[in-house]
Amino acid sequence: MNPLAQQLNSAIQQESPAIYEMLSTLGKNLFYPKGILSQSAEASGKAHKFNATIGIATEDGAPMHFKHIQNRIDYAPKDVYPYAPPQGKPALRDAWLEKLYKDNPSMVGKSIGKPIVTNALTHGLSIVADLFMDEGDALVVPNHYWGNYNTVFGVRRGGKIVTFPLFADNTRFDTKGLRQALAAQTGKAIVLLNFPNNPTGYTPLEDEAKEIVAVLKEAAESGLNLVVVLDDAYFGLFYEDSITESLFGHLAGIHERILPVKIDGATKENYVWGLRVGFITYAAGKDTLHALEEKTKGIIRGTISSGAHISQTMILESLQSEEFAVEKEEKFAIMKGRAVKTKELLDSEKFNKHWTYYPFNSGYFMCLKLRTLDAETLRLHLLDNYGVGVISNNQTDIRVAFSCVEENDLEELFDLIYQGCEDLA
Ligand SMILES: Cc1ncc(COP(=O)(O)O)c(C=O)c1O
Repeated sequence: MNPLAQQLNSAIQQESPAIYEMLSTLGKNLFYPKGILSQSAEASGKAHKFNATIGIATEDGAPMHFKHIQNRIDYAPKDVYPYAPPQGKPALRDAWLEKLYKDNPSMVGKSIGKPIVTNALTHGLSIVADLFMDEGDALVVPNHYWGNYNTVFGVRRGGKIVTFPLFADNTRFDTKGLRQALAAQTGKAIVLLNFPNNPTGYTPLEDEAKEIVAVLKEAAESGLNLVVVLDDAYFGLFYEDSITESLFGHLAGIHERILPVKIDGATKENYVWGLRVGFITYAAGKDTLHALEEKTKGIIRGTISSGAHISQTMILESLQSEEFAVEKEEKFAIMKGRAVKTKELLDSEKFNKHWTYYPFNSGYFMCLKLRTLDAETLRLHLLDNYGVGVISNNQTDIRVAFSCVEENDLEELFDLIYQGCEDLA
């Protein structure tokens, strides 16, 4: 093992032995090499005469670039063309941390690392999988989950997906189910909680959130090491009386056997899906945070090397702009309008013949639960006969993204889905 990796491991081992045990073999081996990037970072502060360290080209004191590209963009060449550091632009990391504290008062006063920039949330999740998942380790998730977790944790890392029911009696978060799933694990588990949830659009209520935290703490107290991943992809889109904070802050520092990891980003929150800017943030002791950051930089350097610089510049300027809060509120109102309208429509008696629906109060989606029809048959029927596209999650469930249907069109959408059911019944 590289001595730098050894140093990081012993720092973690000394401060947080349980977190050391959570690391995968790859996670233990990872470190950030003192290579070109750290020598170049050193030179950028000190090499006043000539900086001949890094593999970019310069001209007239600026990064070399094509005019036909620069003519189409409004950012300074220095904020577009050079590599961003693997951990991300420093000012963006600071701005996101500030946003996190503002949005999540429960984080204040806790020992939390600076967000590390990722190539959006999927990349952040894959970093968690690389750092903590070995073949056969369990990923504990509610039974309604984003299907790509299978690839990130299962196919790539050989993890075993363990599910528990998201809902008890189709009304409440099933904390008993979570407790039972955890009780069946030994050694270590990665628990992945995604609120607002994809596909159901559910976020727990205050009392459910408290129970979730208590159940996790109880499992840790019984000796289980838990990496608790909060996938906050749809953060902020809370339309009813759910919690409006990430569970990350509530889990930070509650038990030495719990490592909270927050995965979030601009993708869905700020409607910039293709810009690919996300963050991974840890909560642990100071030395452990440093070591985890070095390991995270190591895996970023060894996979994508660094994220796109222009995207980071765009998000940074957006966060610093006065329009940000105003437009965020405007878009929130549109999304909430669609969610409220969806619920209003779904409460119509007639739909009851073909479906019920899962509780939803947040996010982009909601799910219908078909009474008798097969979801995939209905999906194809709607596509072929009505030009309506929905997702079939399994035999009974249809996911509807109300996020991408105008409020005025929702009635027609659900009427067509109903008509499709009538055809097939
Ligand atoms: C729950 C959840 N997490 C993560 C992601 C991935 O987001 P990104 O596009 O930022 O990689 C998605 C995207 O659909 C998602 O639904």
